[in-house]
Amino acid sequence: MGKLILSQDNIAVSKAQPVDVREIYHVACSVGQSKKVATKGFLMDDYKSDPKFYQAKLLQDILELKYFYVARFKPNNKIIGFFIINTKEEWLKNNEGWMEEVYWSPKFDVSKTDDFIFVDKTAVYAPFTARGIGSVLFSVVIADAKKEGVSYLLSETIIGPEPNFASLSFGIKQNYKVVGMRYETYKVKDFATLVYHKEI
Ligand SMILES: CC(C)(COP(=O)(O)OP(=O)(O)OC[C@H]1O[C@@H](n2cnc3c(N)ncnc32)[C@H](O)[C@@H]1OP(=O)(O)O)[C@@H](O)C(=O)NCCC(=O)NCCS
Repeated sequence: MGKLILSQDNIAVSKAQPVDVREIYHVACSVGQSKKVATKGFLMDDYKSDPKFYQAKLLQDILELKYFYVARFKPNNKIIGFFIINTKEEWLKNNEGWMEEVYWSPKFDVSKTDDFIFVDKTAVYAPFTARGIGSVLFSVVIADAKKEGVSYLLSETIIGPEPNFASLSFGIKQNYKVVGMRYETYKVKDFATLVYHKEI
């Protein structure tokens, strides 16, 4: 039998609430581990290494960020995915100098970053990836941002040292356009990332 593909009918997307922290953390742990597997995708942090710290950080994000969404599997109401999105102000406040760090494509019109949302962390419970859950979350994020008058979306995917193939595939599915590159040192490790743009 083929893999069950989930759709809007059996997934409910809503804004994350403080009470959701433990379940969100559980999802984060499933894809954010010390071992990064390129084919499966990964979050940069190792969430199990410091449960208190990461749960506090997630709670802070739930309380502070405008766009933090969770997806629930309707039959049992369990959280199976989350998207942490930043407004332009939130992103640049926490990532000062980011605009200047990006090597923008000479073909990209940088005025198309006047107003954007930034897709920061996306995660689906590891056994359930590649079944459409991320796409359902994404469509709700886009619809809400559009209602608020936001025109553009930016995001990043790690391509080195280990490329994140799940994230690259998701970018292709969502028609993201590669508009730049960035090099970053995070916790003493060097990374190369693709910078994506999309008109929403
Ligand atoms: C990235 C992620 C949030 C996307 O959510 P998702 O529910 O898997 O997304 P979808 O199923 O809607 O779309 C993924 C597409 O990529 C394809 N894909 C290819 N390899 C994949 C892989 N290893 N994992 C997931 N999807 C993969 C899927 O088949 C699908 O395309 P298709 O529907 O045309 O076949 C999810 O895969 C995930 O949590 N990955 C681990 C964490 C991660 O890498 N996050 C991104 C970095 S912030």
